Amino acid sequence: MPEHEGRMLKTPKGSCLESVKIAIDTGYRHIDGAFVYFNEHEVGQAIREKIAEGRIKREDIFYCGKLWNTCHPPELVRPTLEKTLKILQLDYVDLYIIELPMAFKPGDALYPKDENGKFIYHETDLCATWEAMEACKDAGLAKSIGVSNFNRRQLEMILNKPGLKHKPVSNQVECHPYFTQPKLLEFCRQHDIVIVGYSPLGTSRDETWVNVSSPPLLKDPVLNAIGKKYNKTAAQVALRFSIQRGVVVIPKSFNPQRIRENFQIFDFSLTDEEMKEIAALNKNVRYVELLMWRDHPEYPFSDEY
Ligand code: A2P
Repeated sequence: MPEHEGRMLKTPKGSCLESVKIAIDTGYRHIDGAFVYFNEHEVGQAIREKIAEGRIKREDIFYCGKLWNTCHPPELVRPTLEKTLKILQLDYVDLYIIELPMAFKPGDALYPKDENGKFIYHETDLCATWEAMEACKDAGLAKSIGVSNFNRRQLEMILNKPGLKHKPVSNQVECHPYFTQPKLLEFCRQHDIVIVGYSPLGTSRDETWVNVSSPPLLKDPVLNAIGKKYNKTAAQVALRFSIQRGVVVIPKSFNPQRIRENFQIFDFSLTDEEMKEIAALNKNVRYVELLMWRDHPEYPFSDEY
């Protein structure tokens, strides 16, 4: 696997197990995972250990898994989810989503490339992939199904599909005070699609995959000043802003103190004025541009939204 993609997605061995256990003890119930994070075995173990301890029941947990780009052909969808369930040692996922609208050549390589180092794409029929996702829900392997990184056109393609059986319940996209997605949020609201915001704290700013020309979110003076008023950090203010406007947040941290910090956002609220002030920080610039795939016919981020 090419170096930058590996670093983008892999977590240090064992850190995920500990972090998920701390998160569950802290009160988190929504766990955002994926096969390509290579740590689903640790997530599954953490959940099982906490169930064995009697701290939670399976139905308290909301696990989201993701269908990777090399598994879009309809006949691969269910076996891919079954593989994830086997790794997790769970009977079902609560949510299964198409991770990206861009199909890659199926096979063992998760990032297939030709001899010139060019990514090998695969013809995508997102509607056919979606029908296979619907079948996973009907079979009880996924309680709900959704998408990620879909733009309005791609969402409409699914919503307008003849014979649509199940609508996507959610669209997971980058969303935070510097990239507030007002139009996509409104469109999704109209269609009862929940926006799940990834990188809600502005990412780890790893230059190999993050657009670091956009300034660091957590250094923002407005977020820090508002935080001071409530005795909260800029991170807590950023998360509170998102949940207060109806965006689900999935902050990532491997640090116990910050895992706890990111959960302490339910004991204060921002005024309408502060919400407006934070919304005005929007720069319409993504941290996660995925430019290496911009020549894919379904690259989602060229369209306006
Ligand atoms: P760490 O794991 O060391 O806590 P995002 O969720 O936007 O992708 O951001 C993840 C990045 O933000 C990680 O690098 C994580 O590092 C860091 N992070 C998570 N929580 C906080 C916080 N409360 N304050 C500052 N940085 C944080």
